Amino acid sequence: MSGHEIPPGAAVGQALAHESAALHVTGQALYTDDLSVRMTGLLHAWPVGSPHAHARVLSLDVSPALSVPGVARVLTRADVPGVNDAGVKGDEPLFPDEVMFVGHAVCWVLADSEDAARQGAAAVQVTYEPLPSLITLSEAMDAGSFQGAQSTLRRGDVTVGFAGAAHVFEGEFELGGQEHFYLETHASLAHLDESGQVFIQCSTQHPSETQDIAAHVLGLDAHAVTVQCLRMGGGFGGKEMQPHGFAAVAALGAVLTGRPVRLRLNRTLDLTMTGKRHPFHATWKAGFDADGRFTALQVQLTSDGGWSLDLSEPVMARALCHVDNAYFIPHVEARGRIARTNKTSQTAFRGFGGPQGMLVVEDLLGRVAPLLGLDPHELRQRNFYRPGECTPYGQPVRHAERLETIWTELLASSDFHARREQVAAFNAANDHVKRGLAVTPVKFGISFNFTAYNQAGALVHVYKDGSVLVNHGGTEMGQGLHTKMLQVAATALGVPLASVRLAPTRTDKVPNTSATAASSGADLNGGAVKDACDQIRARLAEVAAGRLAVHPDDVRFEDGRVFPLGHPGRGFPFRELVHDAYHRRTQLWAAGFYRTPGLHWDREAMQGEPFKYFSYGASVTEVELDGFTGAYRVLRADLLHDVGDSLSPLIDLGQVEGGYLQGLGWLTLEELKWDESTGAGRGRLLTQAASTYKLPSLSELPADFRTSLLQQATETGVVYGSKAVGEPPLMLAISAREAIRAACAAFGPPGTPTLLASPATPEAAFWALHAARTPSPPDAPRATEGVPK
Ligand code: MTE
Ligand code: MOS
Repeated sequence: MSGHEIPPGAAVGQALAHESAALHVTGQALYTDDLSVRMTGLLHAWPVGSPHAHARVLSLDVSPALSVPGVARVLTRADVPGVNDAGVKGDEPLFPDEVMFVGHAVCWVLADSEDAARQGAAAVQVTYEPLPSLITLSEAMDAGSFQGAQSTLRRGDVTVGFAGAAHVFEGEFELGGQEHFYLETHASLAHLDESGQVFIQCSTQHPSETQDIAAHVLGLDAHAVTVQCLRMGGGFGGKEMQPHGFAAVAALGAVLTGRPVRLRLNRTLDLTMTGKRHPFHATWKAGFDADGRFTALQVQLTSDGGWSLDLSEPVMARALCHVDNAYFIPHVEARGRIARTNKTSQTAFRGFGGPQGMLVVEDLLGRVAPLLGLDPHELRQRNFYRPGECTPYGQPVRHAERLETIWTELLASSDFHARREQVAAFNAANDHVKRGLAVTPVKFGISFNFTAYNQAGALVHVYKDGSVLVNHGGTEMGQGLHTKMLQVAATALGVPLASVRLAPTRTDKVPNTSATAASSGADLNGGAVKDACDQIRARLAEVAAGRLAVHPDDVRFEDGRVFPLGHPGRGFPFRELVHDAYHRRTQLWAAGFYRTPGLHWDREAMQGEPFKYFSYGASVTEVELDGFTGAYRVLRADLLHDVGDSLSPLIDLGQVEGGYLQGLGWLTLEELKWDESTGAGRGRLLTQAASTYKLPSLSELPADFRTSLLQQATETGVVYGSKAVGEPPLMLAISAREAIRAACAAFGPPGTPTLLASPATPEAAFWALHAARTPSPPDAPRATEGVPK
């Protein structure tokens, strides 16, 4: 059977609840920190954070902390037996001599209680020599403060493209970051096990890298450190790189004291210490022909990487690979650079730079459509990739026709054209409230740009009683990966779901794993789980073939029974087969492996085929905007998204809806504010609580929310014909931003280009609508005019 065919009655494709749904809602699901109460002699860790955005540490006196009752030890740089670095780039000292942002931990206090650890941390005496700091992206750009590689993605010659253009526009755009706000903050729990090995429970998307970093900090080989992740209460990219240092501190404490150490950030620490989505600045120049088709696009992207590199380089690579979004642009020159600022080290966040890259081109199209005299949906559709065309990095756009299919289906199912007329009629009848309706597409590349990460392993055991235990290298963060892996294993072995169980992710079971990220968790680990199951099934088929007197290829495995092809009645239970196979000394377990075929990527030249395939979708959003306050409501959203043949439709539906809502938060509500003053608080995150950082919740859900998965969308070459789903739907929320723009524009005369800051908060929307209805607008924040040449 080839990889994408789904056998009858298969577990894949069934709409199941998340495997831990009941545990989640009853509070019985255990997370890393829940395990700490089971430990005896537990120590709690608390950081001594820098009050300065940038300073040299002149002296550190920990002795006052040691006299606080309950304090056991203070971990400092002198304690590190191995490498004093928490990252993979060598630019993240775990115990720094020079603090780089407000909250940067200088040392960590260990105590019998969290309270004692906090008091101990307050007692530590640190003297600093404050140094000049850069807080905003523009300060960093003006100062020429950059870090890491600068890269350029190029196709053709933009000067030729501009020369042949009927219209050329230029603009500037700045878009904000985003806090992950996973429900579970960063947590690690380390102890020495019975044999003296280091065992770390960690809320991490990348257990193998957590293991590597803890090992190099401790000066140990990787085999002496095991990392386990039960599950995460959300990761969203924030636990791809950021948990490592915390895990290393906990492990160092456990090694030095012989006691278990718990390190869990409270919400304020998590917000102030850990990285966020990268804010971006862009300048662009775009050429169009007389029909509104792109002739050329030139972009300079600058991301705010914060104090260290972390994942900023690959985030920028993905941003550059997504400035085209769904559009064919003949001549492209996109440059990327990473600013260094004295803020948290910005990191992976759902979409990994893709949303930022795409937002630049979608903002640009939203701005220039009126200048081209085209409706935005018309301008977008005209520029869609067509089958046979390639991206600027040289990858053929496989299934490009799905853009057109999705667009057409969605416009029909959302009643787009009729509703446009209704919106126009509503706007004509109302002076103070206006509505906006917009549609935007998504094309998102699936696979890690870093080719080596596109591999995965699994370990599948069939026990003598016919029950199955699955280990795989992926982590569960709420996205439903474990549910899908259970479905894959049950399908591949032809057994009921109830006979398959998943064991926690740990590095001594499946080694050298990649981060569960880039939405590729199910593709990669699903491939590995299926490989392991296929090996076991092939061995079992040999045994069954003897008993059934048929060729092994003609043995069928379905729902816990084994039978000859075409004769389900002549079968016998899987359990009996396993029993027989064991007695014949057949290996009943297997290690599975998967490497995504066909990928290649030249990072320097930014050319190749970094993605296995593209994920497609589109969304229509309608908003209503109040002209006095800029406040708006999302009245209705229609999403249509391509997940191939869904492995688990209910999970995928949740991912699409959740992605849209998280994107809506990024684009409309969530605004990170830092103290940019020259006062004592300079560099402090001002929005360091849920009271000041506004998150989307039930009240922001579109009043009418309709989500569909594209039908007949088999993706050959991926496990059971499925496609990744985790990140791409976030970008469906761009239509909400464009709808807000349309509503703002409706306050002015037809055809006025409208600038909108990002996030499009009510305040930003107010300035945009104010500009639309005022002949000489006051300075709208964070956006500048698209200037026709
Ligand atoms: N969904 C939930 N509920 N929680 C999460 O933390 N992370 C997202 C996405 N969906 C996330 C989520 C991100 S950033 C990624 S890369 C994918 O899930 C990772 O999982 P996958 O590769 O299994 O899709
Ligand atoms: Mo997701 S940003 O790739 O963890």
